[in-house]
Amino acid sequence: MTAWKKGVRPDPQPCREQDVGRFEVTQRDGQARLGRLHTKHGVLETPALLPVVNPNIRTIEPRVMWDTYGIQALITNSYIIWKHEALRNAATADGVHALLDYPGVIMTDSGTFQSYVYGDVEVGIDEIVRFQRSIGVDIATMLDVFTRPDMSEEEVDAAVRETAQRAEQSLLASEDTMLNGPIQGGLFRHLRHISARLMGTHPFAVHPIGGIVPVMEQQRYKDYAKIMMATVPLLPADRPVHMFGCGHPMLFPMSIALGADLFDSAAYALFARDGRLLTPWGTERIAELVDWPLLMPCVASLTPEDVRALPSEEKERTLAHYNLEVTLAELARCKQAVRDGTIWQLAEQRSHQHPALREAFLWLTTSPSVDRNLRPERFYTDRDAARDTGSDQGMWEDAWDWVVWSQQTPRSGGVQWGGDDTFVRPHIVKARRMLHTRWEPQQNTEAVVVFHGIRGPYRERLGDVLEWLAHTCPHVQPLILSPLGLVPAALEDLNPFAHLDAPQWVLRHEPEPAWMASELMRLGLTGQPVSTVDVNGPGLKQRLSEALLAADQEADVHRGLSGEHQTQARHALRVEQVVAKQMVLLNTSRNVAASIASECTFVTNREGRVKNVNNADGLHLFSPRLRDGGMSLANGGATALLKARTEAVPSTVSAAEWRGHAHSGPAVVVVDTDAEPFVRKGRNVFHGFVIGCDPWLSPGEACLIVNQNNTLLGHGIAQCTADEMRTFTKGIAVKTRGGLEG
Ligand code: GUN
Repeated sequence: MTAWKKGVRPDPQPCREQDVGRFEVTQRDGQARLGRLHTKHGVLETPALLPVVNPNIRTIEPRVMWDTYGIQALITNSYIIWKHEALRNAATADGVHALLDYPGVIMTDSGTFQSYVYGDVEVGIDEIVRFQRSIGVDIATMLDVFTRPDMSEEEVDAAVRETAQRAEQSLLASEDTMLNGPIQGGLFRHLRHISARLMGTHPFAVHPIGGIVPVMEQQRYKDYAKIMMATVPLLPADRPVHMFGCGHPMLFPMSIALGADLFDSAAYALFARDGRLLTPWGTERIAELVDWPLLMPCVASLTPEDVRALPSEEKERTLAHYNLEVTLAELARCKQAVRDGTIWQLAEQRSHQHPALREAFLWLTTSPSVDRNLRPERFYTDRDAARDTGSDQGMWEDAWDWVVWSQQTPRSGGVQWGGDDTFVRPHIVKARRMLHTRWEPQQNTEAVVVFHGIRGPYRERLGDVLEWLAHTCPHVQPLILSPLGLVPAALEDLNPFAHLDAPQWVLRHEPEPAWMASELMRLGLTGQPVSTVDVNGPGLKQRLSEALLAADQEADVHRGLSGEHQTQARHALRVEQVVAKQMVLLNTSRNVAASIASECTFVTNREGRVKNVNNADGLHLFSPRLRDGGMSLANGGATALLKARTEAVPSTVSAAEWRGHAHSGPAVVVVDTDAEPFVRKGRNVFHGFVIGCDPWLSPGEACLIVNQNNTLLGHGIAQCTADEMRTFTKGIAVKTRGGLEG
């Protein structure tokens, strides 16, 4: 959004004709996304809050919303306009934008909510959609059937099917107007599934999640989270998800982390009417306040007492401004968190501010696939209490997978420790899954030594020891105990394992036998003797010697290495690092990784850190990255990886499927002939030019770009999952990092 001078904000530019209704994602953090929805009244940047404007009671003028607050979209009710003759005549004559004096995007609702509040509405299914189109709304809503949380399964089932039945005729009536296809289903997970599937087959522009107002009013936030997890993963990924009636800033971080793009709020005005203030941690009453919970621009020169003394209409308007400002500020904070890759952390922090939200957050992280052995048992007391009982508990695995596999890892920068919640952040769970499913130990591993007791980076303290070990006991696997799990020493600098910003007692925690056993099992290291070495303090060599003895390895640790042996050992460690990183980051088997790295040479910087990895012919394969411990692919590496691939090139974009593809190499993306010359020149791959891709494509991971003849065109970083690749028609699919001229 560009800046404008106060009071002179220009009207929006319509998007290109062919782009109307298209949605593109410009940035993401897991399932949270920043997007752009293209409309005739400008591009709506998401996540966005659409303030509810009651055309009869305009607490804050829509023009003020546009000019002062830069609000790009609002929502009003077409049923109210339709029912009131004066409003209807004005809207029919001049359009809804003139009626409201608002130049931005206008969404309208259909009267469904009125039917929930007052009983039936007397408008036809086509009639209300046709009316919305006739008054020029940008995004209309069909007349769906509201599902309340107290309805029986039969009632909800009937409402879901009736809503789906109305879809086709509503879409016909909407013609070229974008239409909302609401998802109903009450509290029934399978009915939310059915609703998402049925509605998703029709060409709706946006999918609001309906029937959640009473859930929010009753502060049933765990049910709210369940509704999101039951619905969003099943919707076509290229359509914005709107949380119908959700405008409380407290719910924004969690909702956005779970894929919400749009919110609408009457709360700013309704709460103002009875003297309540919205805050990111709940609601407060002005009657009891001496100071503002947050000092917002509209009350900068007023105390709560001053506002209480205002005439009631002015007081209501001031509080509505206050609520809107707080709501917009929290939304801005969430958007920045998505850019910074910290939206889950923000949801985690906010969850502590309300018991019901905390319960919801704990429930989200109770999936059976969250590995229980990550932390000591006490960690699970709260989560076990929040866990569902009975048969329901295993059913959320897919939804949790959907959250986890969309995360980008490794990331730059430190991981801020925030208590035990840290260990179930989805990007950390993904990093562990990548390590556990992809890394393979050497076949001839005879023993394992676990170094512990220090914080990263480990190389300064351990460099010499690891060189000595590599030379003297090449069949001993060195591991490092990080608070996020046991990691092979070759991955000692990999984010997040090496980058936890935490108190000393977290970083130096002692190896616990049960935890260690399960970690070793996950790494495929079972059956070998294991010993531990505390790295702290003097006498490290002696402790290592005892540890090796305990692991049936005899070696004289006091005998140093000759210069030549040291050079050989250093080389071997560097090779092992390239092998380990290929396995974990590029999904190769150890065999493939080792053959690619077999005769490689290293270009180092002045500190002796590897800058480039080249093959025997001097061709650039990889570049290790300092900032996150990752390893960037170069053209030579991409060529070698494609050569090693045994599977056929994907002929279609299949549904995302992450499990079961370990060691198959980086995902391949097949582009059409139009895109070929651009990719070869290093340009990005755009949605719409992709013919096929592997189901394990994951945002942030390297991928190979080929044509239909399996000729390598380039390589890059995937921006999306395979499911997203199937649906999106706009935006960047792969950020190309290297192109191969033909
Ligand atoms: N506003 C709040 N909830 C709903 C809903 O479920 N459907 C519609 N159409 N509008 C709503």
